[in-house]
Amino acid sequence: MYPETTRVVHWHAGVALALFALQVLFGLISVLHFVFPDFQSGGLLEFNVSRTVHINLLIVWLLMGFFGATYHVVSEESQRELYSPRLALGTLAAFAGGGVVGIIGYIFFHHWQGREFLELPAYLDLAVVAVVLTFLFNAIMTVWKGERRTSVEFVLLLGLVLMALLYFPGNIYFANEAMQSFYWWWTIHLWVEGVWELIMGSMLAFMLIKMTGVDREIMEKWLYVVVSLTLFTGILGLGHHYYWIGTPNYWLFIGAFFSALEPLAFVAMILYAVFARQKSKREHPNRAAMLWTIGCTIMATIGILIGFAQTLPNINSYTHGTHVTTSHGHYAFFGAYAMINLAFFSYLLPRVNGIEADEWDQSRNIWSFWLMVVSMVGLSVSTMIAGVVQTVFERMKGVPYITVQEMPTMVLAYQLWLLFGLIFAVGVGLFLYDFFRPARVKEEAVDRLVEPVRG
Ligand code: HEM
Ligand code: HEM
Ligand SMILES: [Fe+2]
Repeated sequence: MYPETTRVVHWHAGVALALFALQVLFGLISVLHFVFPDFQSGGLLEFNVSRTVHINLLIVWLLMGFFGATYHVVSEESQRELYSPRLALGTLAAFAGGGVVGIIGYIFFHHWQGREFLELPAYLDLAVVAVVLTFLFNAIMTVWKGERRTSVEFVLLLGLVLMALLYFPGNIYFANEAMQSFYWWWTIHLWVEGVWELIMGSMLAFMLIKMTGVDREIMEKWLYVVVSLTLFTGILGLGHHYYWIGTPNYWLFIGAFFSALEPLAFVAMILYAVFARQKSKREHPNRAAMLWTIGCTIMATIGILIGFAQTLPNINSYTHGTHVTTSHGHYAFFGAYAMINLAFFSYLLPRVNGIEADEWDQSRNIWSFWLMVVSMVGLSVSTMIAGVVQTVFERMKGVPYITVQEMPTMVLAYQLWLLFGLIFAVGVGLFLYDFFRPARVKEEAVDRLVEPVRG
């Protein structure tokens, strides 16, 4: 435990969680537009605005979570405090400040670029570059000056450095729309189906080593399997976004072949989590974090299998850009990257609050897990229903878009989306409440818990 670093990590988790809540609020505002088509028409929170805020906040809070987790991992693995905790707090403040300016720009001035997920205007992109470079400098210096260097932190840093480099292609200006899309996918696809998997894999490995006590060598070998599978399938899997944007025909084959293999890396992650759980040398007191960790690998895999279902060109030519994609996007983003962050925050919660894991009454956190997981399944099923209706009627039968929007099944699907969204928001609220004010078990219960160990 390194107190200075822990304080930095606590701040990162806190700010990331606040932005998560805001992201979900903007998701709810976005779906209100589907349920009540006249909602805010001509107002400040038009659909294009609320949607932009919703998905850009997603990226910001996930990155902030990754930064916090990285500071913790490099400090623990290198067995020292962060190189500069003050610089880390400054970086966080700049990041959060840039984000706020970005949101104000979207809502009041429609200042964005039309690059979904990467909408920050150019002047703020420069700020992002400065923030990321400072972050990487701090993390790398910690490893450099550290007592020990490990594969887990190497893979984590590799993922982060590649992530920083891949921020550029999506932001280059091309007058040609097809060229623009071609490179924009390098950022988006190669993040979520490439380098972020390295980040996720190493965060998983770190938590599993700490919580199960399984030999580091074994977990590191698994990690390299995940890295190899990811890079082998994910890089050319990029082709599944090149079917219909004006690229040569050979992409149909390349995209289909490599992206169909992509689930392997995620299945490997489930296997290593379950393996570690079974080989566990002790029952770790932080059951909540363990639940999030194993849950994350399973939810991520189901989420990407929904992507897999539409990855072949002959299917994708019908489903492309319908709510089938929305269903996959929500499930996969939540299952993989939101959940790995929430797992890490749950793992850190007792430490950052200065209590032992067995002093923490985890029931609120575990409730929030089930509320979020079950409602995300519901949300994803609702959007899938909407997507299938669109695919069959709009794409296959040629019924006009607006007629399909008004079909009773579509209307019901949107209402269910809103309902599950509200339940999801309750889960988020509970997680946040418990993170900032952790429920504690009574002292006698602590005595009971530790008694067998003493005996
Ligand atoms: C955790 C990893 C993943 C995340 C977070 C993710 C997220 C997303 C998102 C947000 C989109 C919509 C992009 C847009 O058009 O704006 C998308 C599209 C897509 N994803 Fe994934 N994805 C992941 C993994 C996968 C995997 C492994 C596969 C295939 C096996 C896959 C197949 C697809 C396909 C085919 C599309 C295009 C859908 C369309 O044509 O509209 N995804 N993904
Ligand atoms: C209260 C819960 C939520 C609601 C009501 C909601 C609602 C929405 C709506 C209405 C859209 C626009 C869809 C469209 O353009 O057709 C959207 C897009 C998106 N949301 Fe959410 N959202 C919620 C939670 C989340 C969470 C927790 C995540 C990720 C962790 C997420 C990730 C995304 C992504 C990646 C997109 C773009 C996907 C695409 O265009 O296919 N959302 N959301
Ligand atoms: Fe992709």
